[in-house]
Amino acid sequence: MSKIADRHNELVVVFHQEKEDRVMRMRFRLFDDGLGFRYEFDKQPNLNYFQVTDEHTEFALSGNHTAFWIPGDYDTNEYYYTKTRLLDVDASTVDGTGIGTHGYFHNHAVQSPLMMKTDEGLYINIFEAALVDYPAMHLMIDKKRMVLTSSLTPDALGTKAYMQTPHHTPWRTVIVSDKATDIVASKLILNLNEPSGIEDPSYIRPQKYIGIWWGMHVPNTMSWNYAHEPNIRLETTDWNALQPLPQHGASNKNVRRYIDFAAEHGFSSVLVEGWNVGWEDWAGNWKEEVFDFVTPYPDFDIKALNEYARSKGVKLMMHHETSSSVTNYERRIDKAIELMQQHGYDAVKTGYVGWIIPRGEKHDGQWMVNHFIRVAEKMAGARIMLNAHEAVRPTGLHRTWPNWVACEAARGNEFNAWSAGNPPAHETILPFTRLMGGPMDYTPGIFELKMDYYQPGNTNQVHTTLAKQLALYVTMYSPIQMAADLPENYEKRMDAFQFIKDVAVDWDDSRYLEAEPGEYLTVARKAKGSNDWFAGAITNENARTATFDLSFLDPGASYEATIYADAKNAHWQHNPGAYAIRRQKVNSKTVLKQALAPGGGVAISIKKSK
Ligand code: NOJ
Ligand code: CA
Repeated sequence: MSKIADRHNELVVVFHQEKEDRVMRMRFRLFDDGLGFRYEFDKQPNLNYFQVTDEHTEFALSGNHTAFWIPGDYDTNEYYYTKTRLLDVDASTVDGTGIGTHGYFHNHAVQSPLMMKTDEGLYINIFEAALVDYPAMHLMIDKKRMVLTSSLTPDALGTKAYMQTPHHTPWRTVIVSDKATDIVASKLILNLNEPSGIEDPSYIRPQKYIGIWWGMHVPNTMSWNYAHEPNIRLETTDWNALQPLPQHGASNKNVRRYIDFAAEHGFSSVLVEGWNVGWEDWAGNWKEEVFDFVTPYPDFDIKALNEYARSKGVKLMMHHETSSSVTNYERRIDKAIELMQQHGYDAVKTGYVGWIIPRGEKHDGQWMVNHFIRVAEKMAGARIMLNAHEAVRPTGLHRTWPNWVACEAARGNEFNAWSAGNPPAHETILPFTRLMGGPMDYTPGIFELKMDYYQPGNTNQVHTTLAKQLALYVTMYSPIQMAADLPENYEKRMDAFQFIKDVAVDWDDSRYLEAEPGEYLTVARKAKGSNDWFAGAITNENARTATFDLSFLDPGASYEATIYADAKNAHWQHNPGAYAIRRQKVNSKTVLKQALAPGGGVAISIKKSK
């Protein structure tokens, strides 16, 4: 949307604690599609510093609704969703393998945003907005009373938050509609966030990028690490004395190949992971000194590669994997930013794999919530865009810090490469849950969908068809989108790759045409500053027909649609790579019907005829 209206009524209720003479305000904002409320503590004589030992917000429900949930877990949101009645929620039934840090804190706790549907057909979403200087809110299901209670992420000492007045909590939000499309279209969360403080946002560029990345996640292809050298010591290891592995991804030769590919096909940036020393010994050891964020491996010539990229109109994208040694990152971040500025980087992907240092802190706790914001602010100060992986899930803060262009903060496409993967329903649920708070770096665009291509006998695979991978560029809103597969896999299917090259990432208008959480989603979006539209539909494991009512097109004008569809015999499991492309004239009177394969989708580009 080029313009978003903020229409609400406000009510403030003042609570006075007489004996202690302390005041708390509750502020409510009521929108057409829901409400937000928060607790505010003014500066006052009898309330200055205080600790929050708990928050007792309750959401009383009218019944045992159907819920789309992931286990309450203070350290990771990288789970697949389970659909059950609220009374049947049991976190112990969810397989958390594949995530280093998983651990649910109660069988009956779930994460927010929580998406529910009542038997009467009402859609209810409970979440929070503007999570700043406070822990993330999970939800405990009180099964006796049919009530959800807030469950704040504790710190290492068990305290929930440290406050000094004036202060307030994030907004607690409830979005409600009898139409599922209204939930995914809601702007309530964004409206409850503060306006941007960034005066000159001209460096913030919506973009598509490629990366030396998927090759590390699929079998037998690339490595982050330069050498085999366990137990490295960051400052004392002689990197020049080590022999590079042939599969080291961030080598000069490979990076140049990716730069060439980006330049040839119109991608703005190339993410390079594994460029810096430390990857030999980075995960699982809860180690303090892992990366310094400034020392390239001997085979990554940072100056020459950035110059080469610049000469081709491309930028390299920085990667800072912190391995969750956050103290280490904070000590070194200024130098890391200096290096980026010296070489002209304007975007960084951060990562927080593993248990947090300071030990005992949690990814979702107040300390980390503040860390993620500190990083966004520091990057803004240096005119750098930020894409944070393994972060606390977003709550609309990209309105306030628009350079924080995306987060992962959910189970991304990468899980399909090395774990049981994401069930076909996954991408139909994310827009109702994780994406309520902001853009997701899901990394779509995988064309080589089965891992036995890389390693005979490997049964892992992407749980979608190829056409659904294309549709995700439209159904998963993000101003920064990766074309995640290897260049050689695109080169074999240039006709389908054309959609990824063409699709916009920035929009003037979005129309949610059909939606049902866990089932399907059909979206059309108008490219920013253009007459072109892009549309996408996805389904879960069931085949179905998507309907695109194109009445939003300019009346009287004619358009050409290019339809990237599942082939008749496509199937996410047995035949995921089968697609068919066709062209068709359309106009505002067209109602286009398209069959979707099980686990399938369709992507459509609609260009106005001159
Ligand atoms: C997890 C991130 O989600 C992934 O994209 C990245 O490649 C690895 N961490 C390594 O940093
Ligand atoms: Ca991740």
